Amino acid sequence: MSGHDERTFVMVKPDGVQRGLIGEIVSRFEARGLKLVGGKFMQIDENLAHDHYGEHEDKPFFDGLVEFITSGPVFAMVWEGADATRQVRAMVGETDPAESAPGTIRGDFGLDLGHNVIHASDHEDEGANEREIDLFFDEDELVDYGLDAAAWVYEDE
Ligand code: RTP
Ligand code: MG
Repeated sequence: MSGHDERTFVMVKPDGVQRGLIGEIVSRFEARGLKLVGGKFMQIDENLAHDHYGEHEDKPFFDGLVEFITSGPVFAMVWEGADATRQVRAMVGETDPAESAPGTIRGDFGLDLGHNVIHASDHEDEGANEREIDLFFDEDELVDYGLDAAAWVYEDE
């Protein structure tokens, strides 16, 4: 394996869970050839919400964002693959679903900025993927295994 092991943090938000989109979203990453190495169905508390969205603390939408993300269960995941952080963000779409291209997750399943279905680590924020993985998962909750399909996804696996 060479360069196929970048990990990124992804989370189906409370609106995505309530709308029954967990399976659809997991399917897209599986079908792309990414490897699931961690998954957790959970409810985010206020402290974790503040840590996760700390960069937005001073923004006018911060309180509403924390209220929303703690309002119901989320499905947190870690996906692994070549260039995973950037590739997953491309599959997610723009922050505003109304500006997201059809074919992206937000472009196919959302219409409203405040209910944009999914979170994924920002590839333009160096180290955000590792920080967020550490925030949500203990080391022993991530599973190290070989994915047989990788031999077909990558030419040089
Ligand atoms: P996320 O962190 O949730 O994956 O979303 P993102 O990177 O695409 O966007 P970000 O700038 O990190 O914003 C985090 C979340 O805050 C809400 N937001 N509201 N009212 C507003 O102007 C506004 N801007 C952002 C969105 O729900 C966004 O996902
Ligand atoms: Mg963000």
